Amino acid sequence: MVVSNSALASDAGVEILRAGGNAVDAAVAVGFALAVTHPEAGNIGGGGYMVIRLADGRTAAIDYRETAPAAATRDMFVGADGHVTDASIVGPLASGVPGAVAGLTMALDAYGSLPLRTVMAPAIRLAGEGFIVDSGFHHSIAAAAPLIARFGGASRFLPGGDAPPVGVRFVQPELAATLTRIAEQGRDGFYHGPVADALVDEMRRDGGLITADDLAHYRARRRRVLTGTYRGYTITAMPPSSSGGVTVLETLNILGTYDSLPPFGSAAAAHLLADAFQRAFIDRNNLLGDPDFVSVPVARLTSPAYARSVRATIAADHATPTPLVTKALDEGRQTTHYSIVDAAGNAVATTTTLNNLYGSGVYVAGAGFFLNDEMDDFAAQPGAPNMFGLVQGDRNAIAPGKRMLSSMSPTIVVDASGAPFLVVGGRGGSRIISSTAQVIIDVIDYHMSLADAMAAPRLHHQGLPDSLRVEAGGFAPATLDSLRAMGYALARGGASGTCTGIMRTGAGWTGVVDPRTTGGASGY
Ligand code: DON
Repeated sequence: MVVSNSALASDAGVEILRAGGNAVDAAVAVGFALAVTHPEAGNIGGGGYMVIRLADGRTAAIDYRETAPAAATRDMFVGADGHVTDASIVGPLASGVPGAVAGLTMALDAYGSLPLRTVMAPAIRLAGEGFIVDSGFHHSIAAAAPLIARFGGASRFLPGGDAPPVGVRFVQPELAATLTRIAEQGRDGFYHGPVADALVDEMRRDGGLITADDLAHYRARRRRVLTGTYRGYTITAMPPSSSGGVTVLETLNILGTYDSLPPFGSAAAAHLLADAFQRAFIDRNNLLGDPDFVSVPVARLTSPAYARSVRATIAADHATPTPLVTKALDEGRQTTHYSIVDAAGNAVATTTTLNNLYGSGVYVAGAGFFLNDEMDDFAAQPGAPNMFGLVQGDRNAIAPGKRMLSSMSPTIVVDASGAPFLVVGGRGGSRIISSTAQVIIDVIDYHMSLADAMAAPRLHHQGLPDSLRVEAGGFAPATLDSLRAMGYALARGGASGTCTGIMRTGAGWTGVVDPRTTGGASGY
């Protein structure tokens, strides 16, 4: 079973599973196919994270997050007026050194069973022979047209000035050539030679920082997965440089100190979730960063004892304000998730991104791909909010070669018998964490089907801004009144990310795409 935000990419994964590939082979196939069919977020010009749990119980985490170029400086996005500029979001300075090709090839080398050219064949075919534009693809490009038109992607994505219409065949010959080069040469096909040259030329033309040296030195990292337990299930999650695993586990640990949760949708349940997220995000925002650069108290934040001490600070009947400067400080918009399980029970959860839709907008025309705007995930100015309103600390300040902190949360939940139960993750910036955790809570605490959990209304609290975001129409007016009376500043909108996932049921695997977005589940 493969679930992703592109039905064509899910089919590419199933094609590889049917050809005898395992879940990791299929994940690499889906990763490259998404770069072709879902260019708003699927990418070779960005980065991501892959969590693997093999049927024999072995686990792995591959960190292929982008890094700051060597010439990056701590205050590079602070303008002369002392305020943060938008250069961390749009244009060449916004891009970190891409990690996707290094990560996908590392995953295949370590855990795959098929050659790279075999698993990349569907992506190369989709780029070279093209695919039929559907309304999701059309609308995505149409909505991003002003950004795409500012850089070199217009000739391919806006032929005649408009997004390709529904029903036409869309081909990307430059991307097909780049993918073929990678299929033949592995990571060197991207980080050296003509593709690297085209990327560096694009940087030179527009004042970007990524050099040939930055590309040559980029390395994906194998990390040890984070493991926690929640109501008898084992949670396998992504460690830093993503904050996703730590923050999901801390939240679940706090909620796990309660024997059971109040009824779904009640003010009492919303209060506990809000406060658990708020506490976990305060720690995330202040204490986490790239573990290769700063020390991160992962073991403490994910320990049950710590969760009990945090729980003691949650009042039964009222909200607690988020401190502007926390004690913790003294101590020191488009992504895509896909989930895969194979017949043997190997499971892969992967989240990858360019950050915003179509990243920085910068398109490496000669090689056919968009570059990320991941630099905005750093704290450009510790204390000032980024694109997702996250107010983060010094540990996530910019430094050459450093990975910017992420919220991506690819997660695998295993049941008490040791069998994979749920593979899940999502997109939506900081809301990835709260949405992923709520899908887990909805199926485990509230016994929802995966389809119901994907559709269920969500809430979000990230410490600062100190407001509780609730999905419009998702909660009864009386529940909202109760929350206001408890002292929450309620905000509408921006409450939910979008998830994709796979769950084991009595009838077999169920694959579901969040109804708030598009995509497809494919299986056999
Ligand atoms: O790594 C992160 O946390 C962000 N770059 C994710 C961005 C995202 O989900 C955009 N989607 N709406």
